[in-house]
Amino acid sequence: MTRHFLDFGGYTSEEILHMIDMAITFKKKGYPDTKPLSGKSIALIFEKPSTRTKVSFHVAIAKLGGESIPLSIGEMQLSRGEPLSDTARVLSAYVDAVVARVYRHETLFEMAKHSSVPIINALSDKFHPCQALADMMTIKEVKGNIYGVKVAYVGDGNNVCNSLIQACSLLGARISVASPREYRPSEEVITQAKEWIKRSGGSVELTEKPEEAVRDADVVYTDVFISMGQEEERERRMKVFYPEYKVTEKLMSMARPDAIFMHCLPAHRGEEVDASVIDGKKSLVWQQAANRLHTEAALLLHLLQNRRKI
Ligand code: CP
Ligand code: NVA
Repeated sequence: MTRHFLDFGGYTSEEILHMIDMAITFKKKGYPDTKPLSGKSIALIFEKPSTRTKVSFHVAIAKLGGESIPLSIGEMQLSRGEPLSDTARVLSAYVDAVVARVYRHETLFEMAKHSSVPIINALSDKFHPCQALADMMTIKEVKGNIYGVKVAYVGDGNNVCNSLIQACSLLGARISVASPREYRPSEEVITQAKEWIKRSGGSVELTEKPEEAVRDADVVYTDVFISMGQEEERERRMKVFYPEYKVTEKLMSMARPDAIFMHCLPAHRGEEVDASVIDGKKSLVWQQAANRLHTEAALLLHLLQNRRKI
């Protein structure tokens, strides 16, 4: 059966830790001379803009000896009404994996249903698992461990937040999310996380108060208040989030003294985070973004090595 990576469901903590260790090795020692993805082609389909995800996948594939085919929906027959199912079936005959950034998570389900090669979620409205992989790698590098680390997420309970909850609860980190009541993370994700922490030893907590979430936190994480595709909700969202959910130096001072600041980027300085925080000494955002390259490579190898094309 083809394994996809739409979210962390179906993955074990051992597998995820293995990918993180592989990514750390790539970063420290460089990429294998054996070019393990040689002869493999990977389609990169983007419905929405991207800087980090698109470029890091493209470069990771090249470093592993593979070939990537960057595509936007507008240049595909999909934009003229060709069904997703037909597209997925046809692409399966040409390429070894499809990396896709889409508006609706259901689009990925539909692609996965009809694809005989792995579909990798490069961000949907519900999840951003590739980001969370790099986030966990960064936490491991800086804190030495993921298990037991307290992560406070402040802001919109969005795709990035849902994936962070999944990754933390799978790997035994403690996550506390502070968001307005109507912008809480997915209930389904919370219910699942509560099951996962029974095995991993982590914890998951929801609050409306940023000060509560950041208490004793090792990591303070935020993301934009208005995600791609929500532009027309700007006024309403800003009223709810701003300024209560902005990460300020004062909020950072309520976390542990050695707490780090993380953000998936792109960021809006002065909205969800003050410039003095994201550009300050506690910010790890550049290391976090750089790590995307190594975790994309590790993920691709994990999914594609030893997989024979039918
Ligand atoms: N963090 C992230 O996924 O960035 P891009 O939108 O630039 O890919
Ligand atoms: N939540 C943001 C993340 C961008 C990487 C969005 O979906 O636009």
